[in-house]
Amino acid sequence: MCGISGIVHTENFGRNLLNSIRNLEYRGYDSCGVAVIQKGKIDLRKNIGGIDDVNLKERLDQMQGKIGIAHTRWATHGGVTQENAHPHLSANRKFAVVHNGIISNYQKLREELLSEGVSFNSLTDTEVFVNLLEKSYIDSNDLEQAFLAALNQIEGSFSIVMLSSHDPEHLYCVKKESPLLLGLGEDCNYVGSDINAFLEYTRKAIVLDEGEYVILGPNKYDIRSLKTGIKIKKDILNIDWDIETSKKGGFSHYMLKEIFDEPQTIRQAMQIPKSQIATMAKMFAESKRSYMMGVGTTYYVASIGQYYFSSIASCYYSALSSDEFSVVDIKRGDMVLAISQSGETYDTKTSLVYAKEHGAKTAAIVNVMGSAISMMVDQVIMQGSGPEICVVSTKAALAQTFIMLRIALELGLIKRKLKLNNYKKIQSEMQEFSKIIEIVLNEQSGFVRNIARDTSHVKHWLFLGCGVYYPVAMESALKMKEVTYQHAEGMPAGFLKHGTLSMVDQTLHTLFFVPPPEQKDLHKRTLIAMEQVKSRGGNVIAIIFQGDEFAKKLASQSIKLPVVSSLFAPFLQMIIAQMFAYYSALDLGRSIDRPRNLAKSVTVG
Ligand code: F6R
Repeated sequence: MCGISGIVHTENFGRNLLNSIRNLEYRGYDSCGVAVIQKGKIDLRKNIGGIDDVNLKERLDQMQGKIGIAHTRWATHGGVTQENAHPHLSANRKFAVVHNGIISNYQKLREELLSEGVSFNSLTDTEVFVNLLEKSYIDSNDLEQAFLAALNQIEGSFSIVMLSSHDPEHLYCVKKESPLLLGLGEDCNYVGSDINAFLEYTRKAIVLDEGEYVILGPNKYDIRSLKTGIKIKKDILNIDWDIETSKKGGFSHYMLKEIFDEPQTIRQAMQIPKSQIATMAKMFAESKRSYMMGVGTTYYVASIGQYYFSSIASCYYSALSSDEFSVVDIKRGDMVLAISQSGETYDTKTSLVYAKEHGAKTAAIVNVMGSAISMMVDQVIMQGSGPEICVVSTKAALAQTFIMLRIALELGLIKRKLKLNNYKKIQSEMQEFSKIIEIVLNEQSGFVRNIARDTSHVKHWLFLGCGVYYPVAMESALKMKEVTYQHAEGMPAGFLKHGTLSMVDQTLHTLFFVPPPEQKDLHKRTLIAMEQVKSRGGNVIAIIFQGDEFAKKLASQSIKLPVVSSLFAPFLQMIIAQMFAYYSALDLGRSIDRPRNLAKSVTVG
């Protein structure tokens, strides 16, 4: 969940190292630092705060060199202090290290080093490692040997990049259970915890696998296995992400920009070859029992998928939150689909390991190329949504939901629950759907903004929906909580009368996700719940479809969507709720792209 970057160049790399951690800032932003070799010595500057704050305090922009490492941190172990920020220096200042992950046996190693007279500035496991390096170098006088000897002593999960004034031409990197990639340039190579570290400079990347280490020079890289020392040949990936999509492009926040990327994201999801979607559907059809999982937003995506699978293909598969997945008694013949934007989420990764160990087939829908989850499953669909920089997931979640719909349609064909002409009709509607999203974004944002302005003071919300609109309501409530820090609870509309109705009074606000009237049963049930709130003096706001006069009358304010087929209606509701959360947070002056206490990829348990 922190960001690592390293550059080794034949020329001065100017501000590229600073830029690269700026591009990683969404991974963590409570402190940061840079270390470069200048005149044979390590110049290290770090402090607490976001990159702009630290730059003002430490003048990171003036740091230049041909080799350097940088880090942006989201504290998990050890508080947010200047001492705990990365990079960490060894006692003799000849080694500097940036590190993601956890060294699980660091306490024991720290005590041993303390007893040998080493003193520490921070409480971090990383500072233990950098001092192990210094010690190992005294023994071997060889940097590679020292790096390996120090690595041999540590346990846990980590990706590490080492800089040493003993060798100003190479970075030493290792990957174990925490992502690390190389970027290959001309007379210049890069290392980063994700592609965004170097996407601005090169599109050629190598994804490091478990237990690999690299000695990285400006024109050369040497990748070897930690276990055997044998040299490894790796494929070079060509990254097709567009650099422009990772920039803000005139929007005031990435969140809004990424919501407005959604038509494009849906087009990308539509371009995923049918063969890949059909293979995934076949996996579901051929498995004894199938499960879908994700966590946070991706759990809600799985839950929406559950409704699509059931209504289109008459297949009921459980959707589970990855952090609770171990309750499932997985057996050989089962299959598990994981959904993850980052492809690095600890809970989802751990549950996939559990599923594999118990003999299940595994599949995933992932956005980040080369991420751990994308590499560990039997079958992967890369969603191709481009970098999602705002911590809050919007465009990636929408695309994942769309892919779930596509899988459900293929499964419908396989199971003979969907007729071919109906399938074809839906496919051609899908081709046009991105245009409808464009219209909704352009026409509705003003209305949504006004309602958000009127209601941003509201401290408690109930978000209510029936059927597939229930997980839509849950996901929308999560968006609201994340970015506004206000309480929003998602609930099935029919559940309201079983207790929660007692809370309804003039201060309680509800947001209803009203289905198109053609979904008669769901529509009727939603309107009953709206009446229940209204008749008790509660405030009803509703997202409805044009022409729904009944729903309009029950709501004090409503947002009207163009009429679409019921399969597409949940997407439009999700988009409106994302905008509502955005504008509410804007009114409250929240830190929208980097809400407090959150990080983009949660790689710890
Ligand atoms: C919500 C959000 C989180 C993530 C969750 C899973 O906006 O961003 O709830 O959805 O941490 O992350 P991924 O999809 O990277 O596995």
